Amino acid sequence: SSNAMWGGRFAAGPDAIMEAINASIGFDQRLAAQDIRGSRAHAAMLAAQGIITDSDAKAIREGLLTVLSEIEGGKFTFSTALEDIHMNVEARLKEIIGEPAGRLHTARSRNDQVATDFRLWVRDQCDAAINSLQSLIKSLIGQAEAGTDWVMPGFTHLQTAQPVTWGHHMMAYVEMFARDLGRFTDARKRMNESPLGAAALAGTGFNIDRHATAKALDFDRPMANSLDAVSDRDFALEFLSASSICAVHMSRLAEELVIWSSAQFRFVAMSDKWSTGSSIMPQKRNPDAAELIRAKIGRILGATVALFTVMKGLPLAYSKDMQEDKEQVFDAADNLMLALAAMSGMIADLTVNTEKLEAAASSGFSTATDLADWLVREAGLPFRDAHHVTGTLVAMAEDKGCDLPDLTLEDMQSVNAAITDEIFTVLGVHNSVASRMSYGGTAPAQVRAQIARWKEAQA
Ligand code: ARG
Repeated sequence: SSNAMWGGRFAAGPDAIMEAINASIGFDQRLAAQDIRGSRAHAAMLAAQGIITDSDAKAIREGLLTVLSEIEGGKFTFSTALEDIHMNVEARLKEIIGEPAGRLHTARSRNDQVATDFRLWVRDQCDAAINSLQSLIKSLIGQAEAGTDWVMPGFTHLQTAQPVTWGHHMMAYVEMFARDLGRFTDARKRMNESPLGAAALAGTGFNIDRHATAKALDFDRPMANSLDAVSDRDFALEFLSASSICAVHMSRLAEELVIWSSAQFRFVAMSDKWSTGSSIMPQKRNPDAAELIRAKIGRILGATVALFTVMKGLPLAYSKDMQEDKEQVFDAADNLMLALAAMSGMIADLTVNTEKLEAAASSGFSTATDLADWLVREAGLPFRDAHHVTGTLVAMAEDKGCDLPDLTLEDMQSVNAAITDEIFTVLGVHNSVASRMSYGGTAPAQVRAQIARWKEAQA
């Protein structure tokens, strides 16, 4: 038989496969709470405008709460024949309250309805991401405060470059995740306009009050153009884009944790809570959580590319293609929140091997730049010449199988006569980091100032 919601002009019902490809109820049931919230606001507005009676609005609004409690209590039977969450809810409302249910859809279309529901859902996810990022930032600041003075190798090309502090390294990620937080905040602000009342695409002849429904749903204002309101999903694309950048940041930190916890590095030990063993190798302690976080970017960016591709080239206004927006966003959001929570727990529970860090910082000629800088400052050499002298000294140390501080003064003077005993004071890693006092540099005093600025901004 034909569809109860739109079947008036049809003699026969859809093919079973048509029903299967058309239905979104399998996933859009996650929009139930948003759908019912939107419908309750719409019904109240219709009554306030004299479009439906107060008693009909009351029956609709109460009936919708009953439907919501059925869904939340797992007592609702979703029907594929009813396609989506919007029609499932309305059909059940009709069973409960009868005839007034048919008046709810006055001056509305599923096109503005779904755009409204989905915006409400994505808006909540922005809030969730912001909350989770705040926890992660807190965990990282905790690590930074503990290790403002811990010296570790800083890398470029994953080769030892210059000594840095643990606190500095942690705070680098704080800056990245803070920008992510800013992106979710911006996206939320931009998406916070109400599509409701755009109807199918052209607006409606009924005397509706879009400002009232916008306000009831905590939107800042109604969207200004009804065609735009039902046609665009840029709010979802922005959420996915911000999620992708955030997932890239997490994948880099996760990769460092994987490297740092390896037997060859031993910079950190993951707590039992965030590790797994091997079924064959009894000694193993695998950083699975970090690896999975490293991988999450795959599906989150995948979802982003998928929705961009769906939206590309779609003519205005609504096309059914847009039903494909939800699964991508649901999956990306679920995995982003999971990864953020796991990362934040892992960082909070991390044990740092400060001796290993410092030993690694001291090897690999990490203070060669300090030596060159000394030659510039104290012996007046042009930096390029100082660079060359230092390179010769590094080669000499390499030949002797020792590090720069192990060379004798005679060794040094054989390369450049201007070198004095004083050179040895700059070859230690603690001196090296302490000297890097430029704004944002790795010196513990700078890192402490960075942490203090952060805490002030948070307060
Ligand atoms: N399930 C649909 C979606 O997710 C709802 C909107 C349907 N609108 C329509 N004109 N068929 O996009």
